[in-house]
Amino acid sequence: MSPTLNLSREDMRALGYRVIDMLVEHFETLPRKPVTRKADRPTLEARLREALPEHGSNALEILDQLQRDVFSSIMHTDHPRFFAFVPSPSNFVSVMADALAAGFNVFAGTWLEASGPAQIELVTIDWLRQACGLPDSAGGLFVSGGSMANMTALAVARHVKLGNRIEGAVVYFSDQTHSSIERGLRVLGFQNDQLRKIQSDGCFLLDLSALEHAIEADRAAGRVPFCVGANAGTTNTGAIDPLLALVDYCHQEELWLHVDGAYGAAAVFCERGQALLDGLGRVDSLSLDPHKWLFQPYEIGCVLVREERWLKGAFHILPEYLEDIEGKEGEVNFCDRGIQLTRGFRALKLWMSLKVFGQSRFREAVNRGFEMAEVAEAALRELSNWEVVTPAQMGIVTFRCAPEGLPPEELNWLSRELVDEMIADGFAMVSSTVLRGWTVLRMCTINPRTTETDVRGTIKRLDDMSKRLLQLL
Ligand SMILES: Cc1ncc(COP(=O)(O)O)c(C=O)c1O
Repeated sequence: MSPTLNLSREDMRALGYRVIDMLVEHFETLPRKPVTRKADRPTLEARLREALPEHGSNALEILDQLQRDVFSSIMHTDHPRFFAFVPSPSNFVSVMADALAAGFNVFAGTWLEASGPAQIELVTIDWLRQACGLPDSAGGLFVSGGSMANMTALAVARHVKLGNRIEGAVVYFSDQTHSSIERGLRVLGFQNDQLRKIQSDGCFLLDLSALEHAIEADRAAGRVPFCVGANAGTTNTGAIDPLLALVDYCHQEELWLHVDGAYGAAAVFCERGQALLDGLGRVDSLSLDPHKWLFQPYEIGCVLVREERWLKGAFHILPEYLEDIEGKEGEVNFCDRGIQLTRGFRALKLWMSLKVFGQSRFREAVNRGFEMAEVAEAALRELSNWEVVTPAQMGIVTFRCAPEGLPPEELNWLSRELVDEMIADGFAMVSSTVLRGWTVLRMCTINPRTTETDVRGTIKRLDDMSKRLLQLL
């Protein structure tokens, strides 16, 4: 038997065509499929546990097994009625781009090994830079997602502001900030007493006066405030921290301003988003996740910093076995800009889909996310027992079923039960979060394939479920 691990042309074609057929079928039938499908561990153990096979088997049969036993147990985050967490409404063009990037096995770490892809990455990052209004001096990097983008940005902040000496340094962010900021800071060596989680105001925004007080108090105590983390669309409610005021304040106080726009910064692709995110172009660093509201399959996040050279300053190391990659003026080695040396050609999917659909269709697709949240809010306001907790903003609305007279613990119970009912039912998926101690439901409507009927149908379903649950009390 040959050790080459090659397939014949015919077998490659048969496997490839079958994979494409499976994908086309997935895209075509998705709206009619259940959104939620979760198997329990014993079932999956029984289906999939086996010893490492000594001998191979037929690839097409393995595809059948995958379809039957694996893909049957995923929640479809790209389904038009998946409104939980942050959906990832991918697109077929980008899926094909990912296949090409894997097929050509592009090593996107160095110019020497992938000059063409590096140029595509430069161009695509520049499109995002321009869309966000950052200056020409800015640069960036594609990473696995928002968590990695946030950590990369914070590592750059630590390097530029502190020369990596973190003792006594303090970082500030609101209690609505995504946990990846805290996790990133932990990985970067910050202790809990170096993190100030500022209580957000009544609209879940970073409270400027509380921020100023915390910074003054830390300075008075001899500590070194150096970085503020702000949100361009919180995961909970879509709230946007007061960016313009923060830009001015941080500039005046010589603090680094990092904005987590992993969820919301993509809104700059439409006019409404641009207006809401005024000031974004003046921040020191920004995270933006194309695998969320820019419709890419996982994994693609992006970090942008105001001065491109800061990335290299923070990450560049040249070991002797890589001296061959140091090239000519203008050549960019993306491995110098972040943590990964070996990295895939993530930019391709975003570049290719932006070229195929054009900015105009992305603009409409992003704008639709805003509209569908407004449809959800309007539908909820028509119902008697339901309360809108935070209005539609940036494609997110939070709400709860709150019949008069129900005690707090039963209200919270009801919201949690409704999520469980949704998971069991499969028609749609809505998740919960906790706001000021209240468990509430949350819909994130950024899938451009979501229809008004999907939104209204989901709310009707929730209402019917709530009526059944209320009878149990
Ligand atoms: C605001 C925000 N920041 C960061 C993240 C983390 O992004 P990722 O899951 O891509 O690591 C998320 C994820 O939902 C998010 O909503």
